[in-house]
Amino acid sequence: MVEKKNNTPILAGVVGWPVGHSLSPLIHGTWAKRAGVNGYYIPVPVAPDYDDFAVAMDALKTLGFAGVNITIPHKEHALRYTSEASDAARRAGAANMLTFGEKSYADNSDITGFTEAVRATSSAPGQSALVLGAGGAARGVVLALQSLGFADIAVANRTRAKSEELAKTFGLSVADWEDRTKVLENIDLLVNTTSLGMAGQPPLEIDLADLKPGALVADIVYAPLETPLLKAAKASGHKTVDGLAMLMHQAVPGFKTWFGGEAVVDDALRAVLVEDL
Ligand code: ATR
Repeated sequence: MVEKKNNTPILAGVVGWPVGHSLSPLIHGTWAKRAGVNGYYIPVPVAPDYDDFAVAMDALKTLGFAGVNITIPHKEHALRYTSEASDAARRAGAANMLTFGEKSYADNSDITGFTEAVRATSSAPGQSALVLGAGGAARGVVLALQSLGFADIAVANRTRAKSEELAKTFGLSVADWEDRTKVLENIDLLVNTTSLGMAGQPPLEIDLADLKPGALVADIVYAPLETPLLKAAKASGHKTVDGLAMLMHQAVPGFKTWFGGEAVVDDALRAVLVEDL
């Protein structure tokens, strides 16, 4: 257990706009209780402009915060705020962790969050994947897939120009959005990074009849927990990785860095979070 010398609590939090519905305080709070850490992890709403973000970060640093997770719309701002960043954050063009110090350090644990969530479901997830979507979340997922050893990654996006740009940056192939089911028989992993399937959004329309048996299906959406895509995947006998698994795993590096305690992703933590969804 790491504590400040004078026994004042360790402070950390999550910065976003809006941030009221974030599950991160519950994740960190559960781990803090388990580890007996004297600390608080709080949601900090910060308006979308970079200037507001920079003022807020200076203030949190002055107040003695150890670090913060960063969520929408500030993930790119975190990289602009500091010159010190991990290669992963730079390659993703986004950071979801900022650790305060003389030189604050930006990192990206969304990538390892996805990697670990996949590893927890399959020790050998395969070589070939289809990524649906080409936004910021897709960049992190592609980097995670590459670190997992996927050599053959295709990306399909409604706006083709965006999938072409992503493909060029990361050495991927482009699949047609309208014909996205055509590649299903050859892939080991299908992942949705679009907002389709999220509460209040239309479902992702995709027929999984041709999906290779044994292929994994992942969705970064966690509300609802079981998206129409994951429901269809389970119905056709495929293993699934949900957005909550990723969310729990992305929180691990922040907890370890700022609070210094053990952070274990398990069914008990999942049950606490599901209760709050
Ligand atoms: P994020 O950073 O979370 O990935 P984003 O950059 O806004 O968010 O990307 C959202 C993704 O969802 C994009 O790939 C978007 O497709 P477009 O590039 O064509 O906009 C995809 N998306 C959102 N609504 C969609 C819809 N109704 N049909 C298909 N794709 C959709």
